[in-house]
Amino acid sequence: MNSIILQQPGKIVFGENSLQQVADDTIILTSERILFLVATPLLSAAEAVWEKISEQGKKVVVIEYNFPGEPTFGQFDNLLNKSSYFRPDCVIGIGGGSVLDCAKLLAALTENTQKVEEIVGIGFLNGRSKKLICVPTTSGTGSEMSPNAILLNEATSAKSGIISPFLVPDACYIDPVLTVSLPARLTAETGMDALSHCIEAYTNKFAHPAVDTYALRGIELITANLQKACEDGSNLEARSALSLGSMYGGLCLGPVNTSAVHALSYGLGGKFHIAHGLANAILLPEVLRFNLVADPKRHADVAKALGVTNQGSDEQTALAGIEKLIELSKACKIPQRLTDIGITEEILPELADIAMNVTRLLKNNPRIVTKEDAIEIYKKLL
Ligand SMILES: [Fe+2]
Repeated sequence: MNSIILQQPGKIVFGENSLQQVADDTIILTSERILFLVATPLLSAAEAVWEKISEQGKKVVVIEYNFPGEPTFGQFDNLLNKSSYFRPDCVIGIGGGSVLDCAKLLAALTENTQKVEEIVGIGFLNGRSKKLICVPTTSGTGSEMSPNAILLNEATSAKSGIISPFLVPDACYIDPVLTVSLPARLTAETGMDALSHCIEAYTNKFAHPAVDTYALRGIELITANLQKACEDGSNLEARSALSLGSMYGGLCLGPVNTSAVHALSYGLGGKFHIAHGLANAILLPEVLRFNLVADPKRHADVAKALGVTNQGSDEQTALAGIEKLIELSKACKIPQRLTDIGITEEILPELADIAMNVTRLLKNNPRIVTKEDAIEIYKKLL
């Protein structure tokens, strides 16, 4: 068995209303200056937390996060300029993946001589002197579990991955109640993103038994609950199951990570501002169809976790799994074709060029993807 490094938050708190426990975290008790970065819709839910912390005599600054889409380098620098005068010793991010990514980078780059542009890539960050707590409010990105942060380079429209063990939070609080107000469309898209994390980790060239367990259980939980949560956002049982599934997906991200689905979606997000989960949801079935021959057994295992019974051969079972995935995606009202989101044939070579540059993810794919392969995959989705 290959060796593997599992880097996870030092503390994971999971449960309904766990947000309220943040104020009593030992990290807070030993911090004096606490910076909150909070997505606008979560401000009222989080208010009681910073009030309780203020009552303990701590200094608190709250920054509202309201950037649409993926955060850019410029937007991140604005946040850093806004917050650095405060010299926080602890950063708390409350929001979706973009908010958490920015909170992670704020904790890392506050009072750090490195600039954000210098740490793009794997392992360039020189350390982190600030404590970091992440509270996800969607069930999807898994940012609260991972060593990854993604920013958009506004000059080149390229999504830039920053990967470092110093970006793993000290603690995260996963509170399913915070996801109840998430609209059906966002629930569906972020849920499909989490499903992609699990599926891409399990079918990964570097898949590992220590991560497989998370991946398969994540697939089961998300498949069984995504439609329910989309149809009835207040179904807390389904919301909790999705939060757990997303947590499992996040646990896949550091040690194994994603592959061609995420790589092929980079251009859709960076250049055409298609939501991350939506881009992955559209690409996932066709990339799986392409990858299947490289490892029919693992793709059949995914199909079974999706709820498909054995269809005879691994290939047949895996193909039935892909159909099940499409069925789930349609039931959650996710568009199925690139043309549905405004992508036309002449754009495909450019999208493929962007994907070919995402070598850090493409290297994980069980089958080599050439530019021509990428164009063919996109074409099948027109
Ligand atoms: Fe993702």
